[in-house]
Amino acid sequence: MTANSLPETLRHRRQKLAQLIDFPAILWSGANSPRNFPANTFPYRANSHFLYFAGIPLQNAAIRLEAGNLQLFIDDPDPSSALWHGETPTREEIAEKIGANDTRPMAELAAYLENAATVPVQDAGTWTQQTQLLERWILPKNQLEGIDLDLAKAIVSLRLTHDQTALVELRKAADVSVQAHKAGMAATSKSNVEAQVRAAMEAVIMGHNMTTAYTSIVTVHGEVLHNGHYHHPIEPGDLLLVDVGAETQTGWAADITRTWPVSGKFSSTQRDIYDIVLAAHDACIENIAPGVEYGEIHLLAATVITEGLVNLGILRGNPEDLVKTDAHALFFPHGIGHLLGLDVHDMEDLGDLAGYDEGRKRSDRFGLSYLRLNRPLRPGMLVTIEPGFYQVPAILNDPKVKSQYQSRVNWQRLEQFADVRGIRIEDDVLVTESGREVLTAALPNSANAIEELLT
Ligand code: GLY
Ligand code: MN
Ligand code: MN
Repeated sequence: MTANSLPETLRHRRQKLAQLIDFPAILWSGANSPRNFPANTFPYRANSHFLYFAGIPLQNAAIRLEAGNLQLFIDDPDPSSALWHGETPTREEIAEKIGANDTRPMAELAAYLENAATVPVQDAGTWTQQTQLLERWILPKNQLEGIDLDLAKAIVSLRLTHDQTALVELRKAADVSVQAHKAGMAATSKSNVEAQVRAAMEAVIMGHNMTTAYTSIVTVHGEVLHNGHYHHPIEPGDLLLVDVGAETQTGWAADITRTWPVSGKFSSTQRDIYDIVLAAHDACIENIAPGVEYGEIHLLAATVITEGLVNLGILRGNPEDLVKTDAHALFFPHGIGHLLGLDVHDMEDLGDLAGYDEGRKRSDRFGLSYLRLNRPLRPGMLVTIEPGFYQVPAILNDPKVKSQYQSRVNWQRLEQFADVRGIRIEDDVLVTESGREVLTAALPNSANAIEELLT
């Protein structure tokens, strides 16, 4: 199926929004954040709710959506800006590109605020502007209220499932991320430090004029879940945990993790654990289908990992009982995955509004508290499946944890797996009418196939 033109897609999205709310919505794009002085800025990223309805990453702009109409508020470029930034499109040209019904300078927005709802942006300057213009606190995350909360819920219900235009972009992000991972594997034997593998991967993403969707993780210390350091030497015997994903120019993300041996061959202990994580990954993906509870998929991963660890002699007891007491979380302390879309953890700026179905709250159980998605699956949702095994010192050396699980873990046996600090395998899975489609399937994940790619 082909995607609609951008103006058609955007019109369709705002018509759907108009069916859900009977008040105007104003969404701000956000602004550049200075790095160390105003003219030297961090890379710009437009707010995702804005992007969803405006289609392109405008800066210092706002859109007003009412009854299916789109008004664009943006200033024409300052005459001096051409010297530094080149010619940029006029307000009218941008309005035509995105199919706006009307366009005005930013200063006129003040006349269109009555009864309007919004959701907060991330940069403090724009957030202050939102709060001042609307004359109320636009509180973040789980603190939204009134019409702002109603708007957030309406946007969530649209963004939870992806239209064809979004899917075209999401597939592009997935394809480029697959290529980046292959480049990372190919670069490993020629690299001495993590940073060189990262550079080879991000070169592929940048070469497609994309950016990374989140800070890349390329580490021999996979036990640090979101490790953002790249200075460690990579040596034979190490496993490299690599979580890198691309983001397209209009903001759509991919999120892939592979774990591979620096030497090109898994040790027998590494392969034993790898195969357990892969078994959990495969079982979860096989069970993705409309109507299935994502929380059940998480528990399935916990069960498969626990069974594997019992079979290896690392955990002791009946797997079902072990999962009930969260013993799996000693080694798999995070959730099985999350929503993916314009954000790598899609709509997490709204707290759990997107991830948790109406009326559901996060559990505070050790094995469930990091579960980011707890809803029945629907066709058009894109989710990650990312089981893992980690030996996190902060968990395994915690005296309270140690005493609670003392008899459940064969600590001596665990010592034999010291060369497995962290393994994660992550793919992006689209829920379809009949089941699922793995958008990142072109990147192999079996231990044998990975070893082959490393040769
Ligand atoms: N890349 C972050 C995550 O997998 O959730
Ligand atoms: Mn992920
Ligand atoms: Mn990831």
